[in-house]
Amino acid sequence: MSEQNTQRRDFIKLASMTLGGVGAASLAIPFISSMQPGKDALALASTEIDLSPIPEGQSLTVIWRGKPVFIRHRLNEEIQSAKETKLEDLKDAQEDSSRVLQDKWLVVLGVCTHLGCVPLGQKSTDAKGDYGGWFCPCHGSHYDTSGRIRKGPAPTNLDVPPYTFLSENKIKIG
Ligand code: FES
Repeated sequence: MSEQNTQRRDFIKLASMTLGGVGAASLAIPFISSMQPGKDALALASTEIDLSPIPEGQSLTVIWRGKPVFIRHRLNEEIQSAKETKLEDLKDAQEDSSRVLQDKWLVVLGVCTHLGCVPLGQKSTDAKGDYGGWFCPCHGSHYDTSGRIRKGPAPTNLDVPPYTFLSENKIKIG
């Protein structure tokens, strides 16, 4: 099964679970209207990720709030290329340093800013586009190693979700 099919299937599962949750919540409202949001509901707003199993040069996709998040353990040459890019060459000018908390870890939403497809580039065998980051085959958007749009119709860079480092190898998204 292709990566895209797997992601699509995961979305359908998530969407079904979310709808199921909404239905159950609606039924429960008359009985628990005076209660505060439970820990389970609050936990959905954030997710903790252990980065230690991700080798240099590889990526992990996690789902946060129903969206894919790309976590890339960047190679030195990817970091260097992202840092050396001139702002005047960028459609959505952002320094690499404003998009990462630590140079070796890039964390971005895996949602193309054109029409919302999930770009390729997470697997080592994927096309990564002309700038070595991600490529969205839907209409041909190319992202660089900082997740910045470099070519194609997408108007802006891949979004960086809110996250913090809890320890050297653990982040919390959301
Ligand atoms: S949705 Fe990615 S290029 Fe159109």
